[in-house]
Parts: sequence; structure tokens; C-alpha cells
Amino acid sequence: MQDRLEQIKQNFKKDIAGILTLESLEEIEKKYLGRKDGELTAILKILKNLSPEEKATIGKLANEIRQEIEGEISSTRKKIEHGANKFSVDFDITLPGKEVEQGHIHPINQFIEKLSNIFLSMGFEIIEGNEVENEEYNFDLLNIPADHPARDKWDTYFVKNREQKLLLRTHISPMQIRAMRDRQPPVRLVVPGRAFRHESVDASHETTFYQCECLVIDKNISLTDLVGTLKIVFQKIFDQDVKVRVRPSFFPFVEPGLEVDMSCLLCGGKGCPVCKHKGWVEMLGAGMVHPKVLENMGVDPNEYSGFAFGLGVDRLMMALYGVDDIRLIHKGDLRFNKQF
Ligand code: PHE
Repeated sequence: MQDRLEQIKQNFKKDIAGILTLESLEEIEKKYLGRKDGELTAILKILKNLSPEEKATIGKLANEIRQEIEGEISSTRKKIEHGANKFSVDFDITLPGKEVEQGHIHPINQFIEKLSNIFLSMGFEIIEGNEVENEEYNFDLLNIPADHPARDKWDTYFVKNREQKLLLRTHISPMQIRAMRDRQPPVRLVVPGRAFRHESVDASHETTFYQCECLVIDKNISLTDLVGTLKIVFQKIFDQDVKVRVRPSFFPFVEPGLEVDMSCLLCGGKGCPVCKHKGWVEMLGAGMVHPKVLENMGVDPNEYSGFAFGLGVDRLMMALYGVDDIRLIHKGDLRFNKQF
């Protein structure tokens, strides 16, 4: 009996140690002193059945423990009521907090999202590609053999050394072939991403820039589909009718090849540093996918035709937001980035 009482006392001490609320304190009071089935109450109830000697010792001990428990419960209650059992605070809670600055998506990525959503709404698939490419995909499979002068058009960054034939992709057109490795026509897909060329840097040229490659292959695709698609994309980007100019051009992986210009929205066509005082800004290269390239994709050129274009994403974004220097996009200058 004595042991049982000691046990109750120990258990009670453990239970009361971490109490922070009046509700849990009440629970403990009930557990030990509850009229019906409190642990200590139960012992007090059977005292009357004990022999007079036992009653004297056990009764005394039980009463002491009851007083102890009652005392502790009431002192804990007071502490809780006065807030002393709450977390102790050793700083001035009235001081203003430190504001955590929250970043946001970079303006160029905001624009890529907008562009991707436009293509998605037109039923295109959006995919991504590798920035480190090999010569075969960047050139050979796109109908640009090693000795072709078109290779000189892009000053290429080779990774480590020329022998490895690894390079930073000079355009995203290699993804046309990669995408078709596990697809069959009809396809409508776009690939936004970065490309790299050794350019002399100025207000409209950067060594790292963004493109969005587009590829459509189906039966009976013609140049009118290409021009129509572009017009809708431009209209959706700028939310207005934009003047578009199409010029014949040459890219070995298309036939015929085109270059598409847009009237400079920055100067309204009057001429400024961004349009090199021409009133027009070159936006993209385009054309009908060359039969040889279709073959390299594993597509029969007698059955299918397709168009492709590579949008200059930086320039479109600059025209939309009125940015007059491409270098701002890559600088990481918060004064610029925060404006978007
Ligand atoms: N890849 C070309 C470039 O970067 C653009 C292009 C894409 C041209 C698709 C034709 C078709 O200059």
C-alpha cells in the first residue's frame, strides 16, 4: 500500500511537470483526486477497511500526499493564470520586425511563361532541350556539313576542345531532330531556351540569348500556315495588330527560308538604336523544313511537310516591355528586375 502511494506521488510529479493550460491541469486533478475514480481517492476510500495500526500510518501518508498534490495543483493553477508558465520572452515584442524581401520570377522568364501559354492555347506541346549539344545535331543533321560556309555564320563556343565535338548550342533547331526521335507526325511543338554565340555585344546582341523554336509537321502544311501562325502569336503577345515583314533568307535546314521582321514598337518605326535606325527589328528565322532534315527525323518528305521558326525571345520581350538594351536582361541588376 505504501509503495502504491509512493508510485502515485512520483507519477503525479511527472504529469504536472510540463503543464501549460488549465484544461490539462484539470485533467490531472481528475486523474488523482477525482471523486469517482481518482487514483488517490480510491486509496482513501479503502482506508476504513484497514486495521487501526495500518490506518494510522497509511492514512497519515495518504493525507500528506493528498495535501502535497492539492498544493501543487493550486500553485500551478496560479502560475498559469498569471502567465508565468507561458514561453518566457526576453526581447521587446513591440519592436518592428525585419522584413524578409521576397523575390519574383525574372522578367525574361515571365515573358517565356506568357509565350508558352499562347502556344499552349493554340494546341502546341512545350518541351525543353539540352544546352550542351554535339556537332552532329547542331550542324550535320540540320543539313550543315562540316565544310559548309553556313557554319561560319555562328561563331560557336566549343566545350573544352574542338576534337570532342561538344559545343554550346548556337540555336535550338537541333531540338527539331531530337524531338522527332520519339514522335510521329502530326506534331506541333515549341522549345523555349537559351542559345549561345560569340557575338560582339551591343544594345541588341548578347552572347547568351533566348530563343523559342517552333516545329509543325503534318500533311499539307504550307508557308501560309507559317505566316498565319506567326501573325496570331504576335497579335496575342502585343494585344494589337503588329506589322510583319517577310524577307527571303537562307538557312540550310529550311527550303524556302525566310526572315521575319516586325515594325519597331519602341520607336514606332522611326528608327532607334534597337532597330539600328531601320524601323524594323529582325524577330526570327523561319522556313519550310528541308526534305533532307525531314528524312533525318525519320519522316517521309513525300507524305509530310512542315514549317519551323526560331523566335528571338529577348527581342520580343524588349519590344513588349519597352526595354532598350538587351544587356539589361542578363545583368541581374535589381533596379531593372524589380520593375517587372
Ligand atoms: N535556328 C535559326 C537561327 O537561330 C533560326 C531558324 C529556326 C531558322 C528554324 C529557320 C527555321 O538563326
